[in-house]
This record gives sequence, C-alpha cells and structure tokens, in this order.
Amino acid sequence: MKLKKGKKDLDWAGLGFNYIKTDYRYSAIYENGRWGTGGLLSDEQISIHEGAPSLHYAQQCFEGMKAQTSKDGRVSLFRPSLNWERMRLTASRLLMPEVPKELFIQAIEETVAANYSWIPPYGSGAALYVRPLLIGVGENLGLKPAEKYEFRVFVSPVGPYYKESGLAVINLAVSDMDRAAPNGTGNFKAGANYAGGLLATLTAQQQGANEALYLDAVEHRYIDEAGSANIIISMKDGSFITPSSKAILSSITRRSLMDIAQSELNLRTDERPIDLRKEILDFNEVAACGTAAVLSPVGEIWFDNKWHKIFKDGKSVGPVMQTMYDLLVGIQKGERQDLFKWLRYIDL
Ligand SMILES: Cc1ncc(COP(=O)(O)O)c(C=O)c1O
Repeated sequence: MKLKKGKKDLDWAGLGFNYIKTDYRYSAIYENGRWGTGGLLSDEQISIHEGAPSLHYAQQCFEGMKAQTSKDGRVSLFRPSLNWERMRLTASRLLMPEVPKELFIQAIEETVAANYSWIPPYGSGAALYVRPLLIGVGENLGLKPAEKYEFRVFVSPVGPYYKESGLAVINLAVSDMDRAAPNGTGNFKAGANYAGGLLATLTAQQQGANEALYLDAVEHRYIDEAGSANIIISMKDGSFITPSSKAILSSITRRSLMDIAQSELNLRTDERPIDLRKEILDFNEVAACGTAAVLSPVGEIWFDNKWHKIFKDGKSVGPVMQTMYDLLVGIQKGERQDLFKWLRYIDL
C-alpha cells in the first residue's frame, strides 16, 4: 500500500480514552467452515442479522493492544502474539472458530499502517489503541453457537485511561459484586464478563474511586483484579507479588512487569493468593496494570466502610512502581533496549 505520510491535526496530548473514527478497519468473515479473504473497509458500521448470537447470548470476544511510535519514528506493537493466543483460547471456550495467527497479525498490521496519519507521534503521551473483535453473526434463535462469524479490527488514537497525563495515582473500591466465578469465563476476554461489571464500576466511582476492585467470588478474601486491570504489589519485605486466581484475565502487561521485576530489578516474585485484609499492612506499593491502565499506582483502597491508604499519603507514586513504569514504558516507546524482544515493528 502507498501511504500518505503526515499526521492528522489532533491535540494528541489532550486525548482521552474515547473512540475516534479513523479511516480504515479490517474485516474477515468465517462461513461454511472456513475464513474468507479479509480486507480493509472504510465503513465503521457493522450490519448483522437481528438473530445474531453475539447480540443475544454474548457469543463474542475481543482483544486490546496499542501501537506506539518509537523514538526513531518506527511504529511497534507490544507482544501481539500473546493477544492472538488469548483470543484463540477465548474463542475455543465460547465455541467460536480460531482466527489463524497470520490473519490476526496481518489484519492488525494492515489496519495500523492504513491509518498511519492517526498514529500519535512520539512524545505525545498518546498511542493508537487496537481493538480486534470476533463476533457470532448470522441468523439464529436457540441457544447454540453461530454458524457465521466476523473478525474485525479497528483502531482509535487514545490518551491515558485514568487521568490527563502521565503516571496517575488511582483509588479502588472493593466491590460487593462478583466479576467471575472460579470455573466461569473470568480468565477469558469475553464481552460477557464486562456488562456485569458496569454497575460495579459505577458504584465504585460513586464512592470516589476510579475503579472497582474484585475479591474472589468464593470467600471475598483474596484479591482478584480491578475492572479492567490486574493488580501487582510490592511488599515491605522486598518481594513483588501478584494474585494467582482462576477467575482473572491473564494480563500481558502484568506478565511483562513480573518479568521486569524478576530479571531487571532482581526482585523475588511470586504469584499467589493475596488475602487483602490480612496482608494490607505488609503492602508497600500497589498498582493496577494493563494495556489501557499501563501501570497506575493505587493510592487508597475502600473496604469495610473506610479508605485504607497504601503508600504514604495515598497520593504519591512510590519508587518501586515509578521504576517499573519507567522500565516498561521505556521499552514500549523504543527508548530502552528491547532486551526481551517484545516489540514487533510494523512495515509502514
Ligand atoms: C479485566 C481485565 N484485566 C486485565 C486487563 C489487562 O490485560 P492486558 O495487560 O493484556 O491489557 C484487561 C485489559 O486490558 C482487562 O480487561
């Protein structure tokens, strides 16, 4: 493809986390047991049958990642193979066809490249969010899997998820509601997990928090995750821990941060059940992490009818999370050497 160079005239640094229509999106259809040839479209509307199982029974799943402009002007994706693998596992759990890896990667790369002018420039603090989705379409009424599917990828330039800029301290409120059961679909990126969380998020926001924090659905003791991010904790004994749970999404950002903590900062890392009430006094710093949240330090957590400060005054960024953020973002922006080979550069 011959690309027009040059950028849109956007206030890149002022972007929030909202949908902005870009020029192209990618669509491929699965029908009669196989994937058809996909391609770029300009129409952002999807026309589907009123009986589509994605509309009634939430037979759909999605992914989320960012394309970013490196210091040298190249554009990269962060570990997209892991998003493919996660979508593959989710599709299988929801009886949807696997999107072949070549199709997944090619659709993303073509969509990002075709929307070159919408990719935020280096240093703007913004990124191009990439949203692949797989939906069951076609005519259906009874509770059974669709016979036809659409795989679509669209992109939108975005700014920070929680605040105006940079490393923002957030607050979490423990929810009375459960996000996912241990043997349910919480560890898959199924849209069905998120509709039920809207009320929990709204309730948390009404309590003055940015997001809901979910505890395990069985005992309401152990930390699961936040509404759209996993949890990482630097302990006072110097270790770096994260919850083990069958009900949480396996975050690619978390996996990367745990690797950084272990091999770059030489911290003792552990993935284990974390009992919030019993262990909170041993917490040194806490953060939420994810593609959208990047790494957001948690200042205070609401539970048992009061706010509990985590680090100092509950408003400051601690040194461990600051370092973790700098190391991760440094790799993602191409400012530090990509020792782990996490970046995949796109041919523009
Ligand atoms: C529920 C939930 N947990 C965690 C994450 C973080 O996952 P990742 O780091 O792969 O973006 C997300 C998505 O961003 C999410 O929706």
